[in-house]
Amino acid sequence: MRLIFINTLLLVTVWSTLAHAEPVDFSDLRKQYLKPQPQWPKAHLDADIEFAEITRLPAVTFPQDNPYSTAKMRLGEQLFNDPKLSRSGQVACASCHDRDLGWADGRKLSFGHDRLTGKRNAPSIENAAFWQSLFWDGRAQSLEQQSLMPVEDPVEMNFTLTELEARLNKNTDYQKKFRQVFASSPITAEQIAQALATYQRTIVSRNSAFDYFVKAGTTKDKKLQQQLQQKLSDQALWGLHLFRTKARCINCHSGALFSDNKFHNLGLTYYQREREDLGRYNVTKNPNDVGKFKTPSLRNVMNSKPWMHNGVFPSIAGILNIYNAGGFVFNKDPNDPLSPQTSKILQPLSLTAAEKHALRAFLQAISSAPATGPDARFIVRERNES
Ligand code: HEC
Ligand code: HEC
Repeated sequence: MRLIFINTLLLVTVWSTLAHAEPVDFSDLRKQYLKPQPQWPKAHLDADIEFAEITRLPAVTFPQDNPYSTAKMRLGEQLFNDPKLSRSGQVACASCHDRDLGWADGRKLSFGHDRLTGKRNAPSIENAAFWQSLFWDGRAQSLEQQSLMPVEDPVEMNFTLTELEARLNKNTDYQKKFRQVFASSPITAEQIAQALATYQRTIVSRNSAFDYFVKAGTTKDKKLQQQLQQKLSDQALWGLHLFRTKARCINCHSGALFSDNKFHNLGLTYYQREREDLGRYNVTKNPNDVGKFKTPSLRNVMNSKPWMHNGVFPSIAGILNIYNAGGFVFNKDPNDPLSPQTSKILQPLSLTAAEKHALRAFLQAISSAPATGPDARFIVRERNES
């Protein structure tokens, strides 16, 4: 009797696992997504969210007062890799934004001058051209403005702009190159910023499996469509659907960058604790911005471990578990206006293990090998125009 009971239990378990393994009709889901994007299944969005579909990256544009030239980009590249931009002559931008480490540094927190540690995790500079504001707290409005901030940061390059100008003006190689690019002398901090910004704008991530799949939905060539759509696995396709629907990620990770360019609090403020970081509040001084950070891009997210503004998450599984639980929930203390409030957009999600697995596959499908250097399209275009 007992044996029969155990056998039945076993059967039921096996049956239900099998039934759960294929909860989705993948071929139907593929049909729904193999259409132009405006016809994709409707995203699950909160009422006040401005919607921008996740999609392929647009072309990079250069500002009118700092147009592209290959000579300027190459000068920016040299500066980016040159430790002379730091007081010690030992720290370059590339020390913390290393191409081989996905244009970041692979560390929880970066270290710079004298191996001093900063408070934040270094983001990749890939796709820097597309941000509306730079840094985790959005304190820079443009790449031109951002580019000189690390030079003066005491725990990064610990230099001053006047000293940097003086050093480069003594260097005959730089004198010559700056004169060629800007047709003036002496070298100014503004020119250094313009060259660095131009170089950074050309570091664009490569197509991911997701990008090929989106392209498949717009092509009329059946054979090409077949080839392109196969780049996205069934698991990743399911992850794409969950990302836009049940898992609610698209409420914040939207548009071509997978970021709304806005600031949200996931509950990682460490308020009044040793690692406290008030984030966006430091820029706006608005108590409602305490603990908010810029929604990071998820393009190539798999290349920039560990994650979050303070690098506290070494695993994607851990991140998905936190989202599934509705974030780290902190509610404002009415007697303390500076106390942090976790975003109300986060809610418990009731994702199954299989669904979390699919979401992870999707994050993999929006990641590609890091860009190896400046996007060749700019160089070719300039050659054709001249
Ligand atoms: C010591 C390590 C270090 C050095 C050196 C360094 N950075 Fe960074 N970089 C960081 C960290 C950490 C952040 C995030 C800081 C923050 O958000 O407050 C960052 C942020 C950035 C961002 C913003 C990316 C985004 O998504 O908002 C850009 C662009 C950038 N750095 C470019 C540069 C350039 C250009 C240089 C050289 C002039 C440079 N960095 C030097 C560590 C470094
Ligand atoms: C309320 C807006 C919001 C929602 C919804 C949201 N995120 Fe985020 N996400 C953020 C913000 C803001 C950060 C950075 C927070 C920080 O560092 O304190 C972040 C960070 C991340 C990171 C780390 C990236 C890095 O470079 O460090 C991953 C991965 C991520 N989110 C994936 C997801 C997934 C998957 C979902 C859906 C299950 C999701 N997010 C839903 C706003 C959101």
